[in-house]
Amino acid sequence: MKIGAVIVAAGSGERLGAGVPKCFLEIEGVPLWALSTLAFQESSWSSEIVLVVPAGFENRVRESADRWRLDSVRYVTCGGARRQDSVGAGVAQLGDDVAAVLIHDGARPFVSTQLIDRVAAGVERRRAAYAAVPVGDTLHYCDDSDENPPERGRLVSAQTPQGAAVDLLRRAFNWSREKGVSATDEVTLIRRFAGLRAEPIPGEASNVKITRREDWEFFQPQLLQRAERLKMRER
Ligand code: CTP
Ligand code: MG
Repeated sequence: MKIGAVIVAAGSGERLGAGVPKCFLEIEGVPLWALSTLAFQESSWSSEIVLVVPAGFENRVRESADRWRLDSVRYVTCGGARRQDSVGAGVAQLGDDVAAVLIHDGARPFVSTQLIDRVAAGVERRRAAYAAVPVGDTLHYCDDSDENPPERGRLVSAQTPQGAAVDLLRRAFNWSREKGVSATDEVTLIRRFAGLRAEPIPGEASNVKITRREDWEFFQPQLLQRAERLKMRER
């Protein structure tokens, strides 16, 4: 089965507030999106990568992908207002021979090839799968609600990659556009569209999303290490 990847890097990064789109923050001259792309380049599964970036960033991304020999990057396209729109734009670019796709946040630079491979295998088994980790903290409502907080044991934190058969995902996207349905991630969209439960695959604690300034600052050593690895590929 040919499996493609869509890496979404078109968000503005409001919570981080860097003044540049979050995935274009650089460490040693290497942008965050390139670090997140490296593991997909190295994975044995994804032979075709679509990068989704803010409008106007396409050319510089193509040049950088070429410089760092990210040769699996086949298309660079611009995203939309919501994450869901950016994913839809990326999925639309996939070649006809691509049977399944893994969606990944450009803001998760530490994903491993092993996790990519496990999620891909889950998609082959169940048509939809996603990386998930148990919830460690006790959860509380912080409003005035008297409801009991959700039971931790029944919850997981969803990471990416999230993967699905391309035909299923395309139909789910068409449905969501027609019905005006929003969903924060692909697992939710597919469940709402087809009632299909994606298989949760054990994720990795290290597969964090760089969301706030403190994440960017705290993970500098690991980001630097990845950036050095990428720079070794430079033409
Ligand atoms: N994303 C995207 N297009 C959007 C919104 C988000 O491609 N319209 C991407 C981001 O670039 C990121 C991933 O989806 O890689 C996860 O989103 P998030 O961490 O929320 O990033 P931002 O939306 O950029 O950040 P914020 O919500 O703080 O503005
Ligand atoms: Mg966001």
